[in-house]
Amino acid sequence: MVMASCRMPSASDLAGLDAAVSQSLGRVKDFIEPRLEKALELSPAASPRLLEAMRYVLLAPGKRLRPALVLWASDACYGAENQWENAAAAAVAVEMIHAYSLVHDDLPAMDDDDLRRGRPTCHRAFDEATAILAGDALQALAFETLANQMMAPAWVARGCVVLARAAGAEALVGGQSDDLALERGWIPDISVAPAADQLCWLERIHRRKTGALFLASLQLGGLSAGAQPAGLAKLAAYGHAFGLAFQIADDILDAEGTEASMGKRVGKDAQRGKLTFPTVIGLEASRVRGQSLAREAVAALTEMGDSAGELSRLAEWIVARDH
Ligand code: IPE
Ligand code: IPE
Ligand code: MG
Ligand code: MG
Ligand code: MG
Repeated sequence: MVMASCRMPSASDLAGLDAAVSQSLGRVKDFIEPRLEKALELSPAASPRLLEAMRYVLLAPGKRLRPALVLWASDACYGAENQWENAAAAAVAVEMIHAYSLVHDDLPAMDDDDLRRGRPTCHRAFDEATAILAGDALQALAFETLANQMMAPAWVARGCVVLARAAGAEALVGGQSDDLALERGWIPDISVAPAADQLCWLERIHRRKTGALFLASLQLGGLSAGAQPAGLAKLAAYGHAFGLAFQIADDILDAEGTEASMGKRVGKDAQRGKLTFPTVIGLEASRVRGQSLAREAVAALTEMGDSAGELSRLAEWIVARDH
């Protein structure tokens, strides 16, 4: 059910999409959450407070979108479901990187947030130093998990490189760094630059701070299914569009979502004077852009047929969600 134009989906379209995606994500949660818990057992000798903070963060109720992308990309490449065991280590690893990035993103030195996934942020529940260290430890554990447990050893080195690049200075961390630079006026003249230039900056930031890990999740899912370059290229095209669509929706939801459904504070971007899609091009144009990217993502997978159904539905949902 791809929206053929930019019309807003009807309430019953949305309810059906929401129910289908939430059921599919439910299956991902059932698969991945026990494995996240088990992965923490790799660090039995860690100090109890540190381990408790790592558990607090990793097992908090997130949507598990990145593990879903790993598992569903693997389905799309196998052409069949139920090969998830081969992709499990990668799915755990990407969620660890994501969880660490949230902890650090929420720190007073960054977005200074006190609510995440419906709970006090890690530095509020513990303390700042513990939050920094829990994030650091989760990042290291992600690579240990991937290297130790990825099923096909031939892909381990390549998988680690894919994840390292997505997490690193040219991607997630680089995007976060420029996100702050923009907010703090370290990029001269940007606040008075033409909207087209601001949008260009913003897109570059969104593609790195958020899009890169989605892209890596898809590539890792493909690799764990032994995908050929053509399959990986289709996943990459989907991921490029999906990642930007996701962050545009996140920006929109910060402006008009509710704290209860998001599980995090809203209205923070405006409060901090952040440049976001809605502040640069307005809410309606942001919605239109998000929907057009979602269609682009779906189109990239056409040749994969039904086995890419979950990925296609997720792209439609990502711009229609309220959480
Ligand atoms: C939130 O990501 C952080 C961003 C990259 C904008 P999600 O919306 O996937 O957060 P969880 O995992 O469901 O908490
Ligand atoms: C965070 O982006 C991206 C990463 C954590 C890498 P945001 O700052 O927009 O995320 P939220 O809105 O706090 O979840
Ligand atoms: Mg941020
Ligand atoms: Mg934030
Ligand atoms: Mg946000």
